[in-house]
Amino acid sequence: MLALFPAQMLNCLRRCWLLLLFIPFAAVAQYPPPIAIETEHVSLVLGVGDKFKLYQTYLGPKLAAGEKLVLYSRHEAYVPAGTDNLFEPALRVIHADGNASLALEYADVKIEKPLGNVIGDATTTTIRLRDPHYPVEVLLHFTAYFREDVIKTWTEIIHHEKKPVVLTSYASAMLHFDARQYWLSQFHGDWGEEAKQQDSQLTSGIKVIDTKLGTRAGWYQTPSFFLALNKPADETSGEVLAGSLAWTGNFRLAFEVDNQESLRLSAGINPYASEYTLPANQPFVTPEFIFTYSATGKGQASRNLHRWARRQGGTLDGTQPRPVLLNNWEATFFNFDEARLDGLMGDAARLGVDLFLLDDGWFGNKYPRNGDAQGLGDWQETKTKLPNGVGHLVQTATKEGIKFGIWLEPEMVNPKSELAEAHPDWILRQPNRPEDLYRNQLVLDLSNPKVQDFVFKTVDEQLSQGVAYVKWDCNRMISSGYSQYLGKDQSHLYVDYVRGLYNVLERVRQKHPHVPMMLCAGGGARAEYGGLKYFTEFWPSDNTDAFERVFIQWGFSNFFPANTIACHVTNWNRQQTLKFRTDVAMMGKLGYDIEVDKMTADELKFSQQAVEDYKRLSPVIWQGDLFRLRSPYEGNQVALMYVAENQAQAVVYGYSLHTRFLETVLPTRLQGLDPARRYRLTEINLLPGQKAALPAHGQTYSGDYLMKVGVLLHNSDAQPLTSHIMEATAE
Ligand code: DGJ
Repeated sequence: MLALFPAQMLNCLRRCWLLLLFIPFAAVAQYPPPIAIETEHVSLVLGVGDKFKLYQTYLGPKLAAGEKLVLYSRHEAYVPAGTDNLFEPALRVIHADGNASLALEYADVKIEKPLGNVIGDATTTTIRLRDPHYPVEVLLHFTAYFREDVIKTWTEIIHHEKKPVVLTSYASAMLHFDARQYWLSQFHGDWGEEAKQQDSQLTSGIKVIDTKLGTRAGWYQTPSFFLALNKPADETSGEVLAGSLAWTGNFRLAFEVDNQESLRLSAGINPYASEYTLPANQPFVTPEFIFTYSATGKGQASRNLHRWARRQGGTLDGTQPRPVLLNNWEATFFNFDEARLDGLMGDAARLGVDLFLLDDGWFGNKYPRNGDAQGLGDWQETKTKLPNGVGHLVQTATKEGIKFGIWLEPEMVNPKSELAEAHPDWILRQPNRPEDLYRNQLVLDLSNPKVQDFVFKTVDEQLSQGVAYVKWDCNRMISSGYSQYLGKDQSHLYVDYVRGLYNVLERVRQKHPHVPMMLCAGGGARAEYGGLKYFTEFWPSDNTDAFERVFIQWGFSNFFPANTIACHVTNWNRQQTLKFRTDVAMMGKLGYDIEVDKMTADELKFSQQAVEDYKRLSPVIWQGDLFRLRSPYEGNQVALMYVAENQAQAVVYGYSLHTRFLETVLPTRLQGLDPARRYRLTEINLLPGQKAALPAHGQTYSGDYLMKVGVLLHNSDAQPLTSHIMEATAE
């Protein structure tokens, strides 16, 4: 169904809306009705007011249907620069005549509802704005996902001037808030310490979270955040907006508190070094900004995003099963040959996983990849290591009853490689300055269509010979970046690089729509929804110490569902028990990166059972609702749980992090259960011979009791790291 409100229809609309609208600053008669963008529990209302501008009137809990709306001409929805704007603009355009002013008036709105207006589907509202003096148009798109309470918004900029215009800032979204206080939770980090949460109160002025790293963009800052209104939000209370920019490149989130304590949020591509010259009639389409609003704390906001990601394409095939895998990176690093890999695949089958993932070090002949100094870009099997090629490895996997996956870093090149020798012009590097290496490598120029073809071919070749999974890595940022292909348009590099990458990923997905792929960037530096829609999971960190992983996985769980967060059991820290390491990895998408042949018989038996239990419980862990019960940021006793949508089953995790001598241990109250049902509790993941330690093991309680009184999930002894997993099954 399509509804159109062009300016000509305003006279007609005036009659009906006179009754509903009170517009204090302007004559009512001229303006069309407010535009409500709504989900099941959230309303975003925009209205046309003073000077025919579009204003944001309301964002918050759903308004009752037919409610009178007061339109304040206070917050222009998407603020252009150079006219009456006094703060951070959403868009700045330098016209062909050199003038840098823009005014945006409402033109029309188009609402695309699902056929039959089925509640539960997405509705897209597109509002067209235009400058009364220059032929520039801006389309604001909002897709409202009804059941998930998520709104996705993006912007298109188009002009019909005689010569190109230059865009110097171009936000995806601008949102406005009026609260007494604003509290920001941001997630930052570095290699090995990703997604660390930091909370702060926003004060007058502007707070910017951004990156200028180009490729490994989210290395230090992530494009996902919580914004709490009026007071800090916790897991179960407080008004909070969760937002995430879907862009695998430079991003910028700006939070500006103005002179009247209003907050203006703008989210989009970082305009740093990225003035974009736009020819006439070619739309500039910004990345999507995804957000949800919760009046009951961060937990609900996370669950909304998780549901959206799984069901609405935030991650590829988000509701489908995914393989549990054994990776060889930490087990062998570059040191392996065909016989060793054949053996590892046998081990993978014994462990009970679905797939073996061969990591870095399998390619390069003139410059064999025996370390990170050479060979990157030469995607042919090293004959001395793998005389029978990848084909043989696929065959071995098939014989073992599992699948075979492979590591690629197709956007990168070592200068010491045949690729670099053959195509020096495909590499981003300054022509007249010293080489700026990082991990001995350089970035290929994905703005160049020939490089896009090469990267596509690299991936396609593997997938066309039976490889059933790809780990797509990206181990450096863009620095000293210069594109021979772009010539004078160097300021397009950061944007066109990402567009080139998406072009490749589109082609990969057209040809191989369902092959699972892991998005990795030397750890979690590409954990964002622009890339993730082409991938089934991401690698959160190279740091697989289970204690550290509790924090890292907790951080990412705020924005990403468990089936996207790859968590591997490794030997990074052998001081930690195998049980603790396994229990922590079972909080996300379980995998292994361990020498199975070095396990004791008991360790192997434990792990086989853990894999079996995990597969049995994966529908709950992957598709259920996450409740974060006790945060590692607030104490030594950490707890979380997943509850199936029908509330028939739950998986509960308790981690004791360096519990102190005589530390008081209280029951943890569960959440999300059906109070009226009774649940049988069973402790799982016990080492052979180990007895269930939780007093609730084997008992049955009502959901009401479990949520009001709770159960013990932690040990009181001064033990360094212990853990428990409990299954709750409705009777
Ligand atoms: C960085 C990744 O994060 C690791 O998991 C591993 O794949 C190495 N690259 C391989 O070079």
